[in-house]
Amino acid sequence: MRLKKIETEIEVYRFDELSESDQALVNQAKAATERSYAPYSKFQVGAALRLANNVVLQGSNQENAAYPSGLCAERVTMFYANSQYPDVAPVALAIATQTEGAFLAQPITPCGSCRQVLLESEERFRRPIEVLLYGTEYVYKLKQVRDLMPLAFDKESLV
Ligand code: THU
Repeated sequence: MRLKKIETEIEVYRFDELSESDQALVNQAKAATERSYAPYSKFQVGAALRLANNVVLQGSNQENAAYPSGLCAERVTMFYANSQYPDVAPVALAIATQTEGAFLAQPITPCGSCRQVLLESEERFRRPIEVLLYGTEYVYKLKQVRDLMPLAFDKESLV
């Protein structure tokens, strides 16, 4: 037996320590929470995705009475980006969540299915996507989606 350790680097910032452009992207994710449709969970997630051409797209979670038919903010946003701009790489993604009128103090991290989808885009365009996960107390910043998903199943696994 040998032990394999996998390390992940996460930068932890206060909001006001972030660069201007990161703050702007987080603010767009916060604004997107207002357009969430989450009558069941009341968990309003917003995402803002900056593309390499500097376009910023926003998305939010969209729920459904048939619960599994809903979709998380991250996938709504990434699928929209890839369908509107199939030739432009996404470069930075910010996520924010509010529930009962207040933003969460600590950041939430994307679910497993969203990580899988985000990773596919990162690999498809061969360009790291920075990830900003907002909480009022602190913000997590990761250099790339791959850092959220060690040992991922990807297209290399298929060959
Ligand atoms: N949700 C997201 O939109 N993103 C996440 O990263 C986690 C969960 C949504 C799905 C559902 O609408 C609600 O939050 C509660 O799980």
